[in-house]
Amino acid sequence: MARRGIFITIEGPEGAGKTTQARLLHERLRDRFQVVYTREPGGTAIGERIRAMLLDASNTAMTPVTEMLLFAASRAQFVAEVVEPALRDGRVLLSERYVDASIAYQGFGRGLDVELVRRVNEGATRGVMPDLTILLDIDPAVGLRRARQTAGKEGRPGHGDRLEQESLSFHTRVRSGFLAIAPRRGRQSRPGRCARRGRPAGGGAPGREGVAGIRLVLAIVQEKDVGRLIDALTEDGFNATMLASTGGFLREGNSTILIGVEDAQIDQVLGVIQRSAHRREQFVSPMPPAVEPVDSYVTYPVKVEVGGAIVFVLQVERMERF
Ligand SMILES: Nc1ncnc2c1ncn2[C@@H]1O[C@H](COP(=O)(O)OP(=O)(O)OP(=O)(O)O)[C@@H](O)[C@H]1O
Ligand SMILES: [Mg+2]
Repeated sequence: MARRGIFITIEGPEGAGKTTQARLLHERLRDRFQVVYTREPGGTAIGERIRAMLLDASNTAMTPVTEMLLFAASRAQFVAEVVEPALRDGRVLLSERYVDASIAYQGFGRGLDVELVRRVNEGATRGVMPDLTILLDIDPAVGLRRARQTAGKEGRPGHGDRLEQESLSFHTRVRSGFLAIAPRRGRQSRPGRCARRGRPAGGGAPGREGVAGIRLVLAIVQEKDVGRLIDALTEDGFNATMLASTGGFLREGNSTILIGVEDAQIDQVLGVIQRSAHRREQFVSPMPPAVEPVDSYVTYPVKVEVGGAIVFVLQVERMERF
């Protein structure tokens, strides 16, 4: 497809201000550009019917896979009817939500395989991705409260739609999914399409991080696992400090890793630690003792337990950078 337009998406948890900011951006852009402003799921006649099914709070039996495929189906229609024509015609296409929302909601929130969600959506969109994604970040508790108030204002009964009704822990996982897609603080120069805006409630004065949302993860792991764990943390964009330590929970030869993270990233960090340093059994063949004649000595593999991690998550009272 000859692509002459620009595709911008606005993403973020419930109540982050997507509609508010999209409207403001639309107002600013429409004097100078031909703008198509739309929302997902929906944006087409078929998509609106799928949207109604997805958001209907009485559809409590819907499985995560059904949900993921319905979002993808609505998106396929949206790409064919709205996205591709707009980009071909050189318009600015502004959409609230797109593929990233499925990664965050159905992948991180529902716990479906993120790679599966990505592949299904690649098929649905024929690989059409935004040029710029603006991610609005918010503490999920605050966002949910705001979204529920808005839902009330719009006259929808109860506490909002089917997804808004999910638990706070669901929405916390969704937020960590969005953060996993976004560039991390201090790495904004990394090339990519995603710009992150907003910070969790409790952000402080310049020079001081938003401590209300920051936790210190203290992980004691065996030395054998340290290299792999640090590599995995670095790959996921976390900064870790390693201290050589001894005694305590994992006997000798352990290391303590300090990781400062945002509240919503705790599950992600714990997942990395669990994968890289879990307790497991391993067979080792003991070396023959030097005093024995080698041909009369048979070695039997023995099962030993290796790995394991003890993790503390601490509330950070205050954090300064000097
Ligand atoms: N910066 C802000 N500070 C305080 N309140 C805000 C801010 N931006 C938006 N709001 C309010 O928060 C509520 C949710 O905002 P909005 O509808 O724009 O969010 P949304 O991300 O589109 O939510 P939803 O996920 O429900 O579509 C609205 O009542 C809005 O007036
Ligand atoms: Mg909205």
